[in-house]
Amino acid sequence: MTKTTRRAMIAGNWKMNGFKASEAELVTLVTSLSAQPTAAEIVVCPPATLIAGFAARTAGTPVAIGGQNCHAAAAGAHTGDLSAEMLKDAGAQYVIVGHSERRQDHDETDEMVLRKVEAAKRAGLVAIVCIGETLMEREQGHTLSTLGRQVAESFPDTFLPGELVVAYEPVWAIGTGKTPTSSEIEATHAYIRDKLRTHCGAMADDVRILYGGSVKPGNAKEILALPDVDGALVGGASLKAADFLGIIRAL
Ligand code: PGA
Repeated sequence: MTKTTRRAMIAGNWKMNGFKASEAELVTLVTSLSAQPTAAEIVVCPPATLIAGFAARTAGTPVAIGGQNCHAAAAGAHTGDLSAEMLKDAGAQYVIVGHSERRQDHDETDEMVLRKVEAAKRAGLVAIVCIGETLMEREQGHTLSTLGRQVAESFPDTFLPGELVVAYEPVWAIGTGKTPTSSEIEATHAYIRDKLRTHCGAMADDVRILYGGSVKPGNAKEILALPDVDGALVGGASLKAADFLGIIRAL
């Protein structure tokens, strides 16, 4: 497959934002996409409190719902955690794993991320697996070695392209308004795709690689047009339907 045959995905990561009243943004999104459909897969990952309500509201619409994290175990004595099976039961079809804020705030290691990717598969969720270098790793010239390690250690030995989506998110670009240049993004995505070949051989060409980090309506067109960029994982600009739609319509 090539960019033209891989189905684009635009996923919104609401992080720790949103209340029941935020469903109004979701309704605006659904209404617009129903009136003017897109070929892309559209996913909204709200906080866990909103997953069941949002899943019920979007059933049968062009919008799918995802979680932002899951525990590796299916059930058990893990106070405050949610399993992939629970997310699925609430109506989620996707789950973000290994987001840099989880890696930083909760000391998640590549090995923990790998177990969460396996949990997502076990539960029948598509994992959106985040990787990305920190500013220090970038400044020390370690971007590619960091990404290579993350792909080697947080991805299963083998997987099918439909089981996971990769999200390349440079940590220094998240929420900062800074982005790598287009040629840097393209070169990095091509490197990641090459690394994926170790896991799924030529089928790596079928795996979607999203870019994330300060994607806005104003820069989406240029980023989304890059040959190895198959969509975007959007944080801040996914909270308002108008901004999120601006990114979706840039495809
Ligand atoms: P941002 O976040 O779009 O606000 O930079 C992206 C992300 O963390 O997924």
